[in-house]
Amino acid sequence: MPQNIVFSELALELQAKARVIADKYVRPLAAKYDKAQEYNREAAQAAAEAGLFKVFVPKEYGGYGAGSLALCLVTEELAKADSGFGVAYAVNALGSTPIVVGGTEEQKKKWLPAIARGEKMVAFCLSEKNAGSDASGLAVTAERDGEHYVICGEKKWTTNGGVADVYTVFCVTDPTSKSRRISAIVVEKGTPGFSVKKVEDKMGIRCVPVVETHYDNVRVPAGNLIGGRAGMGFTHAMQTLDRARPCVAAQAVGAAQGSLDLAIVYSNRRKQFGAPISSFQMVQKMLADMAIKTEAARWLVYASAAAIDTGMQNVTKIAAMGKCFATDTAMEVATDAVQVFGGYGFMEDYPIAKNFRDAKILSIYEGTNQVQRLVVARNLIKESESLSHLQQYIPQEEQKSYKKGVAQPQG
Ligand code: CAA
Repeated sequence: MPQNIVFSELALELQAKARVIADKYVRPLAAKYDKAQEYNREAAQAAAEAGLFKVFVPKEYGGYGAGSLALCLVTEELAKADSGFGVAYAVNALGSTPIVVGGTEEQKKKWLPAIARGEKMVAFCLSEKNAGSDASGLAVTAERDGEHYVICGEKKWTTNGGVADVYTVFCVTDPTSKSRRISAIVVEKGTPGFSVKKVEDKMGIRCVPVVETHYDNVRVPAGNLIGGRAGMGFTHAMQTLDRARPCVAAQAVGAAQGSLDLAIVYSNRRKQFGAPISSFQMVQKMLADMAIKTEAARWLVYASAAAIDTGMQNVTKIAAMGKCFATDTAMEVATDAVQVFGGYGFMEDYPIAKNFRDAKILSIYEGTNQVQRLVVARNLIKESESLSHLQQYIPQEEQKSYKKGVAQPQG
């Protein structure tokens, strides 16, 4: 666990700016863009003008280098107003992180300043039709041809696809290698052979496009290979996800808070049996449980972000814990919020139905919650050496009874 969670002045200032944008450009337009399945350009423009894309870019490349906690605070505010816009913003941090953690100096100088100014949007292209949780089972190839790479294949579920200008694409560069098969390569929009094909018709987060990106002999300079060394792609992907998961978890905290706030307001207004339903103990229990879970998720997410900011060595476990808990919480809170709204909650003219639809994806993308639990369990087992002193307190009967010829299992 990190030693402390410190909100810098800059982080609080950015949070306040995000709240203003959320109130002015995100919440009032959320239903419109959800219905039309269109990108909220007004909000993205306002976020760029307020410097919100500088949050996740290091200072040397035109950003604020404000850290993971600041990024979480900003994302939470935006997602509270519209979870879809929360990810439309946060996915730029996800797509930029391979360049930030693995890029060469030249690559950082080339792409990060325009991203920080909000002039270029970013997408992260890892998943494929047959490679979701199994992130190393990719089929998109990039073959070296002199001073170029030639990319062929299809990526699935590219969030921000079409809107983004810069795509970090994970490709197989060495099919014969087990641990160094994959590399991350930057593809810019407009490169011949690159195209956005199927635009998905989604259950939720409808204001942000999720698409298939196709690569038909896309020729990019070898200088676009992130880090300049082939075979580092899986490591870059995992390092990126470790840093991005607190951010998707912050989106979930914002989404949960947004659902709770609506449920409180509605339960005070809605009268049954001559009294507001918020005066009934069963509704109060629901509201209290929703608030307790949301607050618990919030502080676990802040702790995971602070772990990154304070340079904690292994953030994988805490990032996975936060992502898993916060996204499960967002779904539970949205479900209970619909219940508080009763029959009206089921209808699309009330805002809570959208929150319910938006919440479902949170436990699926950026690693399903089954993958998060697997990552947590693997790390617990890896760290279990430090618990060996507890052996002495656990009798060893089970080992004795299964030693051949010593004792027979009882039965
Ligand atoms: N950091 C650095 N390196 C790591 C790492 C980490 N967190 N986790 C694993 N590695 C390294 C390992 O050390 C190992 O290295 P060596 O080969 O040198 O020994 C290598 O990576 C392979 O590790 P594993 O054996 O653990 O890999 P695995 O095949 O068992 O898979 C997994 C692990 C956790 C299941 C991984 O595949 C995973 O995270 N899957 C989920 C993918 C995912 O999150 N996709 C989301 C796409 S993005 C998205 O959804 C965004 C959006 O649209 C908004």
